[in-house]
Amino acid sequence: MISNQVSGTQVDEVADGICHICTPPDVIRGGFTFNSYLIVDDEPVLFHAGFRKPFAVTAEAVGKVIAADRLRWIGGSHFEGDEYGALNEFLPAAPKAEPFAGRVGALTSASDIAGREARGLKDGERLSIGRHRLQWLYTPHVPHGWDCGILFDEMTGTLLCGDLFTQPGSKAPPG
Ligand SMILES: [Fe+2]
Ligand SMILES: [Fe+2]
Repeated sequence: MISNQVSGTQVDEVADGICHICTPPDVIRGGFTFNSYLIVDDEPVLFHAGFRKPFAVTAEAVGKVIAADRLRWIGGSHFEGDEYGALNEFLPAAPKAEPFAGRVGALTSASDIAGREARGLKDGERLSIGRHRLQWLYTPHVPHGWDCGILFDEMTGTLLCGDLFTQPGSKAPPG
């Protein structure tokens, strides 16, 4: 579905309970496609808060699926604007949300910059959020950043990553 006709932000369920949120790049910057993933469960997860400036359209997209104040976890693969830029904008709207990152990311960036202490996941650590069980896999410098990791959803066999398969344009299918 299109969640905002002006920005063209799109929300698609790409696996059971996992929604892909994408705002076309001409609205943001650089011609690249940036993605956030919302995992709908007892403890909803937003994997990538998105850039700070388009916070309103990202929050609107989340709100089409669940009330933002249900968010329990907000984090990303590594610390950059497209992954964490809107984190502090989300926190007041999501009072129960806890930021998360890999241990290195929490130590070097997330816990300092976030308005709330971040949970640092160690390599292989699991987060049970209801039906989904998420495992943090530490992948330093892949694709970049010593804090980098990916989140593997054991229930659907889905790997959530950041900046790993860079693609330009807004016409590509969700992935
Ligand atoms: Fe990024
Ligand atoms: Fe990156």
